[in-house]
Amino acid sequence: MSAIQTTVVLAMTADGKISAVDPKAPRESDPDDQAHVEYQVSFADLILVGAGTIRAEGVTFTIRNPELLAARKVRGQSPQPITCVVSGSLDLALDLPFLSQDIERWIFTTRTGLERNSDTTTLQKLAELIDLGDTDLDWDRAYSLMAERGINKVVALGGGSLTAALVHAERIDDWWLTIWPVIYGGKHAPSPVEGEGFVPYAAPHLQLVETRQIGSELFLHYRTLK
Ligand SMILES: NC(=O)c1ccc[n+]([C@@H]2O[C@H](COP(=O)([O-])OP(=O)(O)OC[C@H]3O[C@@H](n4cnc5c(N)ncnc54)[C@H](OP(=O)(O)O)[C@@H]3O)[C@@H](O)[C@H]2O)c1
Repeated sequence: MSAIQTTVVLAMTADGKISAVDPKAPRESDPDDQAHVEYQVSFADLILVGAGTIRAEGVTFTIRNPELLAARKVRGQSPQPITCVVSGSLDLALDLPFLSQDIERWIFTTRTGLERNSDTTTLQKLAELIDLGDTDLDWDRAYSLMAERGINKVVALGGGSLTAALVHAERIDDWWLTIWPVIYGGKHAPSPVEGEGFVPYAAPHLQLVETRQIGSELFLHYRTLK
């Protein structure tokens, strides 16, 4: 296992949904969760985010809090972490706002994605395209590459498909799950870990290491038991 520490930071409703059935439906603003995410992301050298999330949300998370920016400078980190989108298909619109944000951008993809995309020349001017396998993304190669480039801390911001891939690759060290005091319902609304699921005896188990409460919102910190 690599020395890179990977933390998942996700928020879900009390009924376990990370978005409503319509992923584009606007969410109520949540300053406490935003501050929590900003604090967690402020430690990252690199943010991992799934293509589905970047297509739905348009932009990546950036740090604005002056104290957190100053702490990054003291630690020798760049003002903003690199954001690395994971996209097997490379089906990303060139006018996606993420592609013009003032940050360093990587895209983890596959040979198939690079061959299918008709405008890689333009895309590679906007982000570094990193080929990590023929049809399936090889997470061992991804983590070796990140280690070679000096990445020590990864914060994975979802969505559920990316988180499932990281769980299967056994790369998640710890989890921060926010529980929003609301019920979205809907059997098609996504949850923190999508994919095929696990049979219970083979499911990853967690240890609760910390809890915080702000009003009716809970912030749960789990460590993956390995
Ligand atoms: N509440 C929260 O904290 C939170 C956080 C994040 C997201 N969300 C919500 O979650 C929803 C999106 O979740 P999602 O599960 O649809 O999408 P996702 O995990 O963000 O992205 C899925 C896409 O990522 C790429 N991908 C993931 N793993 C891959 C792998 N191993 N190899 C190659 N490509 C891989 C694929 O992209 P390609 O299709 O390009 O191949 C896949 O379709 C949105 O509604 C978003 O708002 C909520």
